[in-house]
Amino acid sequence: MLILGLESSCDETAAALVTGDRRILAHALAGQEAAHAPYGGVVPEIAARAHVEMLGPLIEQALAEANVTLNDVEAIAATAGPGLIGGVMVGLVTGKALALAAGKPLIGVNHLEGHALSPRLADADLSFPYLLLLVSGGHCQLLLVEGVGQYRRLATTIDDAAGEAFDKSAKLLGLGYPGGPAVERMALSGDPHAVPLPRPLVGTGEPHFSFAGLKSAVLRAVESGRHRPEDIAASFQQAAVDCLVDRTRIALDKADGATALVVAGGVAANKAVRGALESLAAAHGLPFVAPPLWLCTDNAAMIAWAGAERFAAGLTDPLDLPARPRWPLDPDAAPVRGAGVKA
Ligand code: KG4
Ligand code: ZN
Repeated sequence: MLILGLESSCDETAAALVTGDRRILAHALAGQEAAHAPYGGVVPEIAARAHVEMLGPLIEQALAEANVTLNDVEAIAATAGPGLIGGVMVGLVTGKALALAAGKPLIGVNHLEGHALSPRLADADLSFPYLLLLVSGGHCQLLLVEGVGQYRRLATTIDDAAGEAFDKSAKLLGLGYPGGPAVERMALSGDPHAVPLPRPLVGTGEPHFSFAGLKSAVLRAVESGRHRPEDIAASFQQAAVDCLVDRTRIALDKADGATALVVAGGVAANKAVRGALESLAAAHGLPFVAPPLWLCTDNAAMIAWAGAERFAAGLTDPLDLPARPRWPLDPDAAPVRGAGVKA
C-alpha cells in the first residue's frame, strides 16, 4: 500500500510517499522561513501563495525520488485542517484534483492526527493506547491515543502553546523566527537557575497548560536589563520544561493502561524537553517514544502515514470534503475555562 501525503497547513510545504509497512520512499519539503522572517511570524497570505508555488514541484520531486507514478499510489492523503485556511485549501484542493484525475481515493487528514500517529511510523512496536504530549507552535495538548480516529483529550493550554512561548521569548531576546531552535542554542551557554521565572499551573490537579504568564515574566526580565540573555533563555527553557513535565506527570496518573509516553510536534525537537520526558517515563516504568527530529516538525510523511492508517481502517473521504481552520481531535472534550483561540 503506497500513500501520497500532502502538507500545507502552516509554513511548510511538503509531499511524501510512505508505504503501509512504514517505508518512507520519499519526503520533499520546502520551508518558508526566509519569506516570513521580516515579519517575525507566519503571514497567512504569504504562506498560501508560497504553497501554491511549491506544492506541484514538490509532488513531482517526491514521485521522481521514489521512482513511482501517480498510478502506483493507492490513495492520496492531504491535510484538511486545522491550520491557516488559505494554505490548507491549497493542499486539499491539490489532493482532490490528483485523486479525481488519477481515479484514487482521497483521505482528508487532521494535521494533529498526523502528529499523533507519527510515532507509530517511527516505531512499529508502539501500540494503542499511549499518552501523547503534542507540543507545537499552535497546540499544546495531552491526548490518550486509543486508536486511529480515537483520541481522548486530557488537557490543553488555556492561552499560548508551548512553541508559541518559545517563539515569543525568542522575539523578546532579539532572536530570529522560528524561535524554538534559537532559544535552545542560546540556552546552552546560560544558567537555567539564574532568573526566577514562574511555572504557571504547576501543582494544580488538572493537567492543563498556561504559558502567557511565563512569557510576560520573560519580558520583564529582558526589560530589567539585569540579566544576561543566555541566562534568560536557559531559565525560560527550564521553566517551560518544568511545566511540561509536571503537567504530563498528572496526565500519566489519569491515563489508565497507557503503554508508553510519547511526544510529538515541533517542540519535541528540543533536547531538554526530550531528556526530561524520558526521565519521567522511566520513573513511571514506561517506554519513552519520540520520533526523529525531522518527523517532529511539520512534514508530509506523517500525513501520508496517518492516511495509511486511515486507509487500512477503511476510512476515505468524498471529494467535497471541506477544509477546516479549526478541527479538534477530540470533539467531546470539555471546554477549558480560560481557553482562547487554540484548537
Ligand atoms: O509542529 P510544528 O513544526 O508546527 C506546528 O504545527 O506548529 O512546530 C513548530 C514549533 C515552533 O513554535 C518552533 O519554535 C517549535 O516548534 N520548535 C522548537 C524547537 N524546534 C521547533 N521549540 C523548542 N526547541 C526546539 N528545538
Ligand atoms: Zn504541526
